[in-house]
Order: sequence, then structure tokens, then C-alpha cells
Amino acid sequence: MGIQISPSLLASDFANLAAEAERVNRADWLHVDVMDNHFVPNLTLGLPVVEALAKAASTPLDCHLMIEDPDRWAPGYVEAGAGSVTFHVEAAAAPVRLARELRAKGARAGMALRPATPIEPYEDLLPELDMLLVMTVEPGFGGQKFLDLCLPKIRRTRELIEGHGLEMWLQVDGGVSLETIERCADAGADVFVAGSAVYKADDPNVMIDDLRARAEA
Ligand code: DX5
Ligand code: ZN
Repeated sequence: MGIQISPSLLASDFANLAAEAERVNRADWLHVDVMDNHFVPNLTLGLPVVEALAKAASTPLDCHLMIEDPDRWAPGYVEAGAGSVTFHVEAAAAPVRLARELRAKGARAGMALRPATPIEPYEDLLPELDMLLVMTVEPGFGGQKFLDLCLPKIRRTRELIEGHGLEMWLQVDGGVSLETIERCADAGADVFVAGSAVYKADDPNVMIDDLRARAEA
């Protein structure tokens, strides 16, 4: 599949979400951060907004659920029209069952790790997933500084994916910019979320192209 860019709507103008979705038409995915004020100390949007966005946007939605009890809520995001749904393993009671349910409903199943969550305990789950998300900031807010301490985990995760001969994607999210994307790509990431880097740029589509070029270099 190669390098993919998923701009995060969190850094966009929430009063104009449909228009903001169209401002990044060279993106592969549109990253939608769902926060519930419990799993993270911030509240964004939920199912009704995702459902409306899925109808309005021409780019498929990559929903990142920073919520408690994803076992209960995540399948609804597939029904709402998301093409990819990522839950946090720290919040999931039954990650295997949940990943299977997301796939059965027709979405790509993603699993996210906070910066302090290791990948090794979850090695055997990898074949159940379409994407692993390694957070490179503590989830909850945009515009935070990239955590270099996450790079070794990206590298180890890529090794595990290759060791198992899997096709799955490896996403990074948090502080991804022209300055940090190369480090992530070198470590083995292939799907890049960027919020402020894209939406605060003069031309978001030019920034998407520049990020892609830098990751491919
Ligand atoms: C943070 C979110 C990110 C956020 C990234 O918890 O998961 O998707 O929007 O924003 P930047 O790219 O500005 O760090
Ligand atoms: Zn995110």
C-alpha cells in the first residue's frame, strides 16, 4: 500500500467540519479523534457527528476511539460509516472479540497503544488486526511534542509484523510533522496521522504531499 497520510480533523475548524474534510482531498484517510472525557481528559465528538461526516466526506474515515468501553461502542462506528476503527487496548475488555466484530462488520480493525504500553504482550493478536497504532504523544490533545522514546517500539512492532509475515499497517499519531516524519518512517511506520502540521499549514494539500515525499525518501 505504501505511505499513507491521515490528517486529523482535531486541528480543523469544528464549526465547518464538512468543508474542512474537503480541504484535505489529497489525503488517504481522514482521522477522526473520538474522546469521551474518561479515557482521556478531553471531549470531542461521537457517533452522530461521525455518521454525518461519513456521508459528507469523500475521503474514508479513520476513527481513533479514545474512549472507555470500546467493546460496547466501537462497532457502532462501523455502522456509522467509518472505513477503519481503532480502539485502545488499555480500554478493551476483549480485544480479539472486538477486532473480529469490527472486521465482520466490514471495517479495518485497528488497535492503539499509549506511549507507556508495550507491544510484546500483544504479539499473538497481530493477525487479528489490520492496523496497529503506536501513539507518539499521550492521547487527548493535538499540538503536543513528538515523543522520541516511542521510536524503539515502532521499530520492534515493524519487526514483529514482518516476523509474522503480516500485511498490516503501522500507524503513528502525535507530533508528526516535516521534522519528525522521517524518524517514524525509518522506524517502520507507514500510516501517518498529522493534525496541526496539516491543518495549520497555508495549504493543507501541499503539506500532505510534502509529508508523503519526506516519508518516502
Ligand atoms: C491526540 C490525537 C491526535 C491529534 C494529533 O490524542 O489522537 O490524532 O489530533 O495532533 P497533532 O498532529 O497536532 O499532534
Ligand atoms: Zn488520533
